[in-house]
Amino acid sequence: MTILVTGGAGFIGGNFVLDWLAAHDETVVNLDALTYAGNLETLQSIQHDARHVFVHGSIGDRALLEKLLAEHQPRAVINFAAESHVDRSIHGPADFIETNIVGTFNLLESVRAYWSGLDSERKQAFRFLHVSTDEVYGTLSPEDPPFAETNRYEPNSPYSASKAASDHLVRAWHHTYGLPVLTTNCSNNYGPYHFPEKLIPLVILNALAGKPLPIYGDGQQVRDWLYVKDHCSAIRRVLEAGKLGETYNVGGWNEKANLEVVKTICAILDELKPRADGASYAAQITFVQDRPGHDRRYAIDARKLERELGWKPAETFDSGIRKTVEWYLANQQWVDNVASGHYRDWVDQHYGQPA
Ligand code: NAD
Ligand code: TYD
Repeated sequence: MTILVTGGAGFIGGNFVLDWLAAHDETVVNLDALTYAGNLETLQSIQHDARHVFVHGSIGDRALLEKLLAEHQPRAVINFAAESHVDRSIHGPADFIETNIVGTFNLLESVRAYWSGLDSERKQAFRFLHVSTDEVYGTLSPEDPPFAETNRYEPNSPYSASKAASDHLVRAWHHTYGLPVLTTNCSNNYGPYHFPEKLIPLVILNALAGKPLPIYGDGQQVRDWLYVKDHCSAIRRVLEAGKLGETYNVGGWNEKANLEVVKTICAILDELKPRADGASYAAQITFVQDRPGHDRRYAIDARKLERELGWKPAETFDSGIRKTVEWYLANQQWVDNVASGHYRDWVDQHYGQPA
């Protein structure tokens, strides 16, 4: 059997593919456009593994999708492919509309055509799992309960609006065409192989490089941190037992203000790799201009997933953040190649232009 993963050279998709192949013998076809966020070095350990078929291409390419689906006959498609960074969406929203909305539409249409042609047993067993974000629910004030699956969609950034639109398409393809879909909306992930434009890896790498640690605004914005491997286990569980057409919120029960997150990272680095001058890395904290439209608080109520499918995160923030800092310290080559942009050369040498 085979699954098709899109965006599997990115942060979460890459972790998902590695974890999947560590636990299953089922082949993974991995379609990724290798944008700046795609990094094949993340997948180096499975480079010669016959169970991993990497395809350089876009979810916007219907002809390629039709060919891949016909050739590999997957029993499931898991859609991670997206533009994912809020700050980039503020500076240039067009790619977010193209990939997150139009790309998801193309993928849904290609999958629908493929699924319609399956025999009834395979048609029933087929799943399309769409990976989305808690940011579609908008922002919370300190006293609000965390986001439940029943919350209204109130996206505030071009990124979250594009993800909200994709979630609506997925929902409509289920209600209108009967496509067997599942949607997961998760909180902020962190862990190994995270691209250093996002808060946690940026702070670890800037700290080690002696650079400022930029805190937007007052640093009191709250995010609910989810260790990426916990997110991957939740996706596997939803794929296995989720109820068709349902959405599941995935969170780590770890609400933290940004400033607290940054100070925690500094304290772990002070212990594991003290600065030469004996000062704390916290001395590098710098308050900078706030992000426009910055959502104040996200928090996930993950009780549905626990109640219905028995999933719970394995990591606390303390255990997950320590593992994450240790991973960045131990994987200097991955870090250096990302920081220098060298990982792009590797892509060009191995894959050239998209299929
Ligand atoms: P990422 O930016 O690290 O990776 C995205 C991957 O998608 C990259 O490998 C990129 O090359 C690929 N991609 C982009 N456009 C593509 C296209 N047109 N066709 C094929 N591949 C394409 O993102 P991530 O953090 O791994 O996020 C994965 C998914 O999870 C996204 O849908 C994101 O919205 C969602 N999500 C992420 C977080 C988080 O904290 N990182 C939280 C909630 C939801
Ligand atoms: P980020 O990792 O970009 O995720 P998201 O915007 O999807 O939540 O940012 C996490 C939080 O950290 C968010 O409140 C913005 C803040 N932040 C900073 O304070 N400084 C930074 O340099 C970055 C990248 C983010």
